[in-house]
Amino acid sequence: MENQTYIQWKKSMVRAAKKMKTPIVGHYELTACCNLDCKMCFIHNADSNALRARELSTETWKRIFDEAYDSGLFFAALSGGECLMRSDFEELYLHLWKKRVRVGVLTNGTLISDGHVEFFRKYPPDFVRVSLYGCSEEGYLQVTGHKGFEKAVSAIRKLRDAKIRVSVVVTPSSYMKDEYIGIRRYCIENGFPCQSNNFLLLKNRECPEKDDHFLSIDDIVELSKAQYELSNGPAIPVEITPEPHGNSKVSPKGLTCNAGAGAAVVSWDGRMYPCVMLPIGDVSLLEMSYAEAWEKTKEAVGEMLLGMECVGCPYDDVCPKCPAMRLTGLYTGHCKPEVCELSRRLVAAGVKKLPDPGQAVPEAESCD
Ligand SMILES: C[S@@+](CC[C@H](N)C(=O)[O-])C[C@H]1O[C@@H](n2cnc3c(N)ncnc32)[C@H](O)[C@@H]1O
Ligand code: SF4
Ligand code: SF4
Ligand code: SF4
Repeated sequence: MENQTYIQWKKSMVRAAKKMKTPIVGHYELTACCNLDCKMCFIHNADSNALRARELSTETWKRIFDEAYDSGLFFAALSGGECLMRSDFEELYLHLWKKRVRVGVLTNGTLISDGHVEFFRKYPPDFVRVSLYGCSEEGYLQVTGHKGFEKAVSAIRKLRDAKIRVSVVVTPSSYMKDEYIGIRRYCIENGFPCQSNNFLLLKNRECPEKDDHFLSIDDIVELSKAQYELSNGPAIPVEITPEPHGNSKVSPKGLTCNAGAGAAVVSWDGRMYPCVMLPIGDVSLLEMSYAEAWEKTKEAVGEMLLGMECVGCPYDDVCPKCPAMRLTGLYTGHCKPEVCELSRRLVAAGVKKLPDPGQAVPEAESCD
């Protein structure tokens, strides 16, 4: 069970930092290497394990962490690729931990040894988030090219038994269609806290032409409906739905989420972005300090144009909040027609509900 008081406190810290434009959250992709080969991955690809020489050294990461700390870092997430592939993982983790930075770990879980569990028990992480890529070895193989289901599940159990805050994340893609609901059900049955990454996937950064992992709108509606019904019972379809789109002729500028306001990402080769979803700014921490890179990242975010169609749109509340998902391009000021269609179809299927007219909609939470 997650500690709600801690989560509320963390959210309030992040909100305050966002107002002050302080990068309190840092997401660090320590490596592009991985022991798995997920077909939908946006970082790792067939060539990534040969790129070890271009990874940042231990000393460079420590320098980045020190500068980030001086800029206001308090919540770090170590990711990749698979961050446990780095032989200096514990050294880098401890470098942050000893500064009292809260350190989270994003992992596929298959490399977590008894030694890691002991290490995390001694130096507790903020969270360990394990991606689960199947509910059977066959399904897992289909997504990742390797068998790893039993290993990942065993790691989740061991972490939980050691009282480490562990949760599961699921990333549905065309390769996981058959097992997506099975994974969600497996997590419910086993008492694993579980969340899904949004259905709208990123392209691979190095091979943007690869697009066979994307789900169709029909697939997303079908999986969303099955997921809804797993928790809520039968969805009730809605016959008449409003047209998407408001009628503003002006695009709002800048973002309202945490990207480039309270959070920064550093890629495995040392570039800073406002968010994994927004590879913009393109500033290298090999050429400038964290504080300088942060200034440029904030500027890049400030130039973004939000969808003019979204202003006053009846679907604003049920549509994916992430601007990177809504927009046709980061500087066009227009939203993607397929996102509008998806939002409308989810409402028509009874999976999402439009707020009642006149009902106050709470301010959206930023992602961490
Ligand atoms: C790149 S992985 C790195 C950490 C670790 N290797 C893992 O698999 O959790 C971080 C998260 O991104 C998700 N992911 C992978 N490919 C994606 C894509 N194309 N779009 C969005 N998220 C993706 C993964 O499933 C995982 O939950
Ligand atoms: S385990 Fe994570 S980093 Fe590795 S290929 Fe899969 S999504 Fe990418
Ligand atoms: S992206 Fe969403 S909020 Fe924006 S116009 Fe389309 S449906 Fe409305
Ligand atoms: S809403 Fe999108 S761009 Fe903003 S922080 Fe969340 S994932 Fe990143």
